[in-house]
Amino acid sequence: MRRCSETLEAEMTPAEQKFLQNIIRKKNFSGPHLEIGTAAGGTLCKMMKCFDDQTRPKFVVVDRMTYFPNQLTIVKENLSRNGLPEKGVEFRTTTSAEAFAQAEKQDDRFDFILVDASHKILAVMADLRWLRLLNVGGIACFHDYAERFPGVKLSIDRFLSRYRNYEKIGLADTLLAIRKTASCDTPEVSPLDRAYSMVMYLPLEVQRKINKVKKQKAA
Ligand SMILES: C[S@@+](CC[C@H](N)C(=O)[O-])C[C@H]1O[C@@H](n2cnc3c(N)ncnc32)[C@H](O)[C@@H]1O
Repeated sequence: MRRCSETLEAEMTPAEQKFLQNIIRKKNFSGPHLEIGTAAGGTLCKMMKCFDDQTRPKFVVVDRMTYFPNQLTIVKENLSRNGLPEKGVEFRTTTSAEAFAQAEKQDDRFDFILVDASHKILAVMADLRWLRLLNVGGIACFHDYAERFPGVKLSIDRFLSRYRNYEKIGLADTLLAIRKTASCDTPEVSPLDRAYSMVMYLPLEVQRKINKVKKQKAA
């Protein structure tokens, strides 16, 4: 059982939560805000609380809701305990890949995107495609951008080196924020980027398993 399913807390450090809320409050975007990977909705509540009920933009949550039993019910309970309206959130209960295909088809656009789903390189690289749907001037945040999550770190570093229409605006603990400064000539995440993530997947998985065994032996 995940701890957050009982505490309903955000799976972020206090510094990350503060940084996230500062960005959201300062930008005060009116367009949709998207969270990919919500756990118990702790961070979702923190983000929604940056607005009052009258001016809060639409929030969209993409999650396959299998992180722990009754995940969706628990997220809704969290909203209710925080005095936040359930109808202010559109839940897309599916994989990020399926939700992205649908969102692209229906031409969705977002002012703010928080990516915090699977940390494996194949998934993170695929999730970066969501940035195609980020409005120019919009902000994207990535959780667990750190050496100990190489799938996240390598994907984002490659992305930022290839797509120069994004700039880093800050980092708190492992929460990275970037801004889209212009639209992209080619869609974000190319077949070559996907191929890179496929090539890197196996070595990273082997390393992850080695690290796990080492940790178990040390315990
Ligand atoms: C680390 S937790 C998110 C933590 C949350 N953002 C917070 O700050 O409290 C990861 C979440 O991503 C979801 N998830 C993982 N892989 C996914 C995928 N491929 N598609 C959709 N959701 C996914 C899990 O169900 C889980 O709820």
